[in-house]
This record gives sequence, C-alpha cells and structure tokens, in this order.
Amino acid sequence: MVTQLALVNGVASPLDQAGLALTDAGVTRGDGAFETVGVWDGAPFRLDDHLERLDRSLSAIGLPATPRDDLRADIERVLTDQAADGALRIFVTATGTRIVMLTLPPARAPLRHLVSQPAPWIRPVGTYAPASAKTMSYGPNMAASRAAQRAGGDDALLLSLEGLVLEGPTFTVMWLRDGVLFAPDVALGLVDSISRRALTEIAEAEQLECRSGHYTVADVLAADEVLTCSSVRPVCPLSRLDDHELPVDTPLTDRLGTALDRRRRSAVGVDP
Ligand SMILES: Cc1ncc(COP(=O)(O)O)c(C=O)c1O
Repeated sequence: MVTQLALVNGVASPLDQAGLALTDAGVTRGDGAFETVGVWDGAPFRLDDHLERLDRSLSAIGLPATPRDDLRADIERVLTDQAADGALRIFVTATGTRIVMLTLPPARAPLRHLVSQPAPWIRPVGTYAPASAKTMSYGPNMAASRAAQRAGGDDALLLSLEGLVLEGPTFTVMWLRDGVLFAPDVALGLVDSISRRALTEIAEAEQLECRSGHYTVADVLAADEVLTCSSVRPVCPLSRLDDHELPVDTPLTDRLGTALDRRRRSAVGVDP
C-alpha cells in the first residue's frame, strides 16, 4: 500500500493532517487547476503529459504556470520508496498554493451503466478561453454524477447543449464499431484525456482505425462495444446506456484494457 503524504507549498504532512488556509482561493472559489495522475507499481504514468495539461489549464483560466522544478521536486518526494498503486494529485490554486499528494487509488465500483445528462457548461474550444481546462470548479460535473445516480445509473454520460456526446464527469468514453475506435472530438471542449491518448496509440499500433468527431447517443448505441477509462481507472466495458442494453461481448475493449494495464506497469510511457 502507498504511504499517503501531502505537500503544501513543499511542506510535508501525513495526508490526514495537511491543511489549507480558509482564505485560499481554492477553498473560497474552487479557483485553480488540477491533475490526477495514475501511479502504477509506484511509478507515475505519462507525468509529462499531465504537467503540460496542468500548464494549459492554468493558462486557459488566466493563471501563471507553476515552476516545473518545484512541482517535480514535490512529486519526487511523495513518490520516493513507493511501490504500490496510487493516485498522485496536483492542485495549483489562484492564490498560488501548490498541493501535491499521494493517495490510495480511489475505491470505485466499475462503471457499467451510464445515464445521459446535459452539460451546458462544456463549450467548444475557441468559444471561450477556459474550454477544455481541467479546473478545480468540478461542482457541475459532480452534480451530473449525482443526477445520473438518482436515475439509477452508476454515473453520467455528459451531452452538449446540441446533444453531442462529450465525456463522463471524471472519465473518458470511447466505443468500437466494425473494428474502428471512436471518440468525441476534444475540440468540443472535453478534457484532453491522457488515458484516451494512450488507448488511441495502442489501437493504432494494433492496426485499428481511430476516428474522432461529432456523435450522438444513437451513434454510441449502435456500437459493438463501449468503454470508459481515466488515469486512475482501468478500461471498463459499459453494459447499459440510459434504458438500452449494450452488447455483452467486448473482445476489443478487453484487449485494449490489457495492453493499457501492461503499459502502465512497465517503463513504456513513464517519464525518465
Ligand atoms: C471531465 C473529465 N474527462 C475525462 C477525464 C479522463 O482524463 P484522463 O484520462 O487524463 O484521466 C477526466 C479525468 O479526470 C475528467 O475529469
């Protein structure tokens, strides 16, 4: 099991004793950006990708980048002598507070049943600056998860105002049809998922065609297999979307999931 540790501006405490000033903009307004990095057998997967996305998120909401050396020193410290799975969480608030912590992997049930929910706060890239940013203001995402759970699902499938399929509140959604791997266009304002990027690379290496574009729930329902994934979740096949059962046979999803797990647990994709 990983040793849970938090660093706030470089000062270390056990996770359950770390604290933030009540006046910090991260507390008062949820103002800042964050990253959740999967740690597999003690090593972070695609850390550079996460640090670059953090900088893009900060820039999108008008905040300066955090000095990379400080962040890397904190990350190295929380990961020293760790050999188990965990979640490396990084937050940078508008007050300038830098939080780096290592926690146990989130204990979550597999996502089997998603319920469509509107996500009017997600707008296409180019229509306003924060589009696609992974900001600390996740209230709307969490409200959509709860609404989906009240409707009997495990979580939500977020749809744009126009009815286009986007993503889950904390995970990416992809599907396969006739041997093609589909995903919604990131330019619709989705979080640019790093596990989705890794899955696309794996699929391309296995000679599967990959397409991204504008799709509706009907497109997803016509799929042979539908999957969810995030940096701290394995690939999980979906069995139900709204009131519709999905195919139970998921050979390609299983293959992609196994290949991703292998990459996460090997040197492939781990930054030097
Ligand atoms: C809204 C949203 N979409 C997608 C993802 C998946 O991104 P990643 O694969 O980089 O974890 C996340 C992860 O936190 C997310 O919050």
